[in-house]
Amino acid sequence: MTRDERSDTLPLRKSLECREAAVELAFEDHTQKRQHARLEPKTENNRRLFGNCDSAGQSAWNSSWRGVGKCFLGKVTAWRFQMFETFLHLDLTSLLIILIFFLFLEYRPPWWYRANSDCKKGIPGPLALPIVGTTWMLFPGIKAVSRLHEYYQDMYKKYGPIMKEEYWCNIPIINLFEKRDIVKVLKNGSKYPLRPPVQAVAYYRKSRPDRYTSTGLVNEQGEAWHHLRTTLTPVFTSPKTISSFLPSVREIADDWCNLLKQSRDSSGLVSNLDDIADRLGLEITCALILGRRMGFLLPGGESDVGRNLAEAVRQHFIATRDTHYGIPFWRVLPTSCYNRLVKSEEAIYDLAMELIKSANDSTKDSEVFQAILKADLDEKEKTAAIIDFMSAGIHTLKNSLLFLLYLVGRDSDLQRRIMDDPRYSKACMTECFRLCPTANCLARILDEEMELGGYRVPAGTPVICHFGIACRDERNFKDAATFKPERWLGEETNHNAPFLLIPFGVGRRVCPGKRLIEHILPVLLEHTVSSFEFVAQKELEIQYEFILAPKGKTAMVFRDRV
Ligand code: HEM
Repeated sequence: MTRDERSDTLPLRKSLECREAAVELAFEDHTQKRQHARLEPKTENNRRLFGNCDSAGQSAWNSSWRGVGKCFLGKVTAWRFQMFETFLHLDLTSLLIILIFFLFLEYRPPWWYRANSDCKKGIPGPLALPIVGTTWMLFPGIKAVSRLHEYYQDMYKKYGPIMKEEYWCNIPIINLFEKRDIVKVLKNGSKYPLRPPVQAVAYYRKSRPDRYTSTGLVNEQGEAWHHLRTTLTPVFTSPKTISSFLPSVREIADDWCNLLKQSRDSSGLVSNLDDIADRLGLEITCALILGRRMGFLLPGGESDVGRNLAEAVRQHFIATRDTHYGIPFWRVLPTSCYNRLVKSEEAIYDLAMELIKSANDSTKDSEVFQAILKADLDEKEKTAAIIDFMSAGIHTLKNSLLFLLYLVGRDSDLQRRIMDDPRYSKACMTECFRLCPTANCLARILDEEMELGGYRVPAGTPVICHFGIACRDERNFKDAATFKPERWLGEETNHNAPFLLIPFGVGRRVCPGKRLIEHILPVLLEHTVSSFEFVAQKELEIQYEFILAPKGKTAMVFRDRV
């Protein structure tokens, strides 16, 4: 609008719009500055508003309202006018974007989480940006998500015992590194302890009602979780299951040693140790759940089903990691990591179904299989349970065994002591879980407000207990960085273990496979040590695949014991 046009306008204060426009003009006149350009009736809306103002009103405002107070009023009104103008410009696309953020990406403004808590204000942590929170720390080129275990070690060094991150949409996550706080959170478990679900898996399963009636034991919460837990898991901890399974474990351990023998080159090197460990993980898990030997460890027993299942389980862990950290674009777009997750879920489902269908008479005698068949659950739930148990066991067992062989393989004297004193094999396993736990932290959602690290943390906050880091703390274990199985043969440090050395978790959500694995690993170690003197020649590199795993191919030398 030009000044000439303005003098032709209609009487002032006819309407609210006219008054606002006039105040804007008064402000412009007072400052005699560049504001003019902003008042141009660029849009049809402006033209409509300004068109109602008259010249008398214009001059009244121009001549008399020049005080500082009026200038302030002018500023405020100009701002309101601009807001109104901006609002009018919001088109359908913008509204749609807001809806997507709010409903699908679950964006909430930072103040949403600030109410009633000091957990956002004082707890130290990396810079949190709007919307992306601290996830930018794991953007490509800053820190690889495969090195997350190192990242948290650095964070502990930098920020101390308690550290705050902000997840996507500025949801606070509290990280605990010290024994006092970890014990406090885990001891306080309620009837239905809340573990944050794996969002992308839960999302996928909800989208497949043809296959799943729930998100499964690992992801369910509250009463639904409790029903699955009490129906499905007691069989894993029953002494009957364990004692009837141990003879199979011994047979499997013999097959493992035979396969190692046949896989050596002339120098004794087994260069595909991780493939063989995969076959072992499969054989044990299938024997436990399907009650029959699949023969994956027999020479030439490497079937496509077995190989593909082990790879699908590994890919599932990696894709879970990739969907979990960073921005969950997968909620609105089929991102590559979400596609990988779906592909691996479907592969595990199809392959496990193939194995279940191949069930024979011995399967029908299996304690675990029978318990699942008899469970008060619908058919889909039973199938999902079998699949979940199989995939929970294969990769975790493989990684734990490789870590154990690596740590024991650096000390030939220790191998001799294991042969002489059977208590050593269990002590080695415990010490391995202290130094190299494949699951190195435990997540919970607080169900009541707590004082942690000197801060008040409200109920509903996700908390990560980094027990893996606390177990390497000199204040909790003397010579913490050293692999010393002897510490588990005496009394000296054992008092620090409960709620701190928790490689299988703790409380009502503890891993149902814990007791079985604690029997299986020492048997495997004893058999390996009595057949071979084995040497870990290279330093083991570790990477984060949602659980800790050896990086790349694992190789070791296995010499016949004479
Ligand atoms: C070395 C092997 C294993 C390790 C290190 C391991 C570790 C863990 C950990 C840390 C948890 C979380 C517990 C918590 O939140 O307190 C867990 C949960 C679980 N594990 Fe294992 N696990 C292993 C083997 C197995 C096996 C063989 C099975 C199959 C029977 C299994 C089935 C499960 C299931 C179903 C859950 C979810 C339990 C629930 O939320 O109620 N795991 N495991």
